Amino acid sequence: MIKRLSPLASHPRYWLSGSPRGLGGGARQVGPVTYGERRRSSCAARAVEVTKIYGSGETAVRAVDGVSIEFERARFTAVMGPSGSGKSTLMHCMAGLDAPTSGHTFIGDEELGLLNDTRLTDLRRDRIGFVFQSFNLVPTLTAAENITLPADLVGSTVDRDWLNYLVSNLGIADRLSHRPSELSGGQQQRVACARALVRRPELIFADEPTGNLDSNASTGVLTFLRQAVRDHGHAVVMVTHDPKAAAYAERVVFLADGRIVGELLAPTSDAVLEQMKRLGA
Ligand SMILES: Nc1ncnc2c1ncn2[C@@H]1O[C@H](COP(=O)(O)OP(=O)(O)OP(=O)(O)O)[C@@H](O)[C@H]1O
Ligand SMILES: [Mg+2]
Repeated sequence: MIKRLSPLASHPRYWLSGSPRGLGGGARQVGPVTYGERRRSSCAARAVEVTKIYGSGETAVRAVDGVSIEFERARFTAVMGPSGSGKSTLMHCMAGLDAPTSGHTFIGDEELGLLNDTRLTDLRRDRIGFVFQSFNLVPTLTAAENITLPADLVGSTVDRDWLNYLVSNLGIADRLSHRPSELSGGQQQRVACARALVRRPELIFADEPTGNLDSNASTGVLTFLRQAVRDHGHAVVMVTHDPKAAAYAERVVFLADGRIVGELLAPTSDAVLEQMKRLGA
């Protein structure tokens, strides 16, 4: 049986410390970058010839296969592809949650493979927000405490005006004293969105953020993510299986068998669906 990815992010300690094996510590020898320029300030995140192989020998799985991609600042990008095509693996590698087997990943101008443990942890915590399909809220904390957790863990103060803006825009202002078990799935997902944005990261990775939601709740989350890009200049990279969700993005990147196989700009859900059919997804 293949063991599924279990990102560090599922645990609150994710924000505290630690690096995936092979990343951080400055120990990994990554060699010179030969693709493009090293400095690309318009880029929120970049992968250069990234390959991720799980296992070895006959059971080896090439989850990501030589992917080079750029995600621009202040842009909403969707990543689509059949189940098992490597979407989550690519996202985890690009976010510094997992180490690629080979290749280079950058957040802004920082190459993740060259950072030591502390700097990688700081970068992830300060510059990246995560929204996961399974919410990953801490059950014993209230909604408010979950939202401020990333800031509380490092003892940084939360901008109260920004927090109020987030929770009122997400429609959860009156649910803040409740624990996750007392919230609907949609409300939990919106708490996870607020948590991802509370420290104003430049980049948000969202892995199927609407996968568990009905269409009303999905619309709320997607509208909010789009607003985060348009009004506040965050970059959002969102994995989704839903063509309607992808149509909220400005660009859709398609993966199949660990490779980029297509791209759509200004996507409509019909165009996305058509492309997905072609990929057999
Ligand atoms: N920890 C792991 N060990 C071994 N194989 C893995 C691991 N994680 C993922 N894989 C395999 O790598 C491939 C890509 O997985 P990944 O989770 O990135 O796909 P995905 O596109 O996100 O799929 P889905 O849409 O189902 O979430 C799959 O074949 C998967 O089984
Ligand atoms: Mg996935």
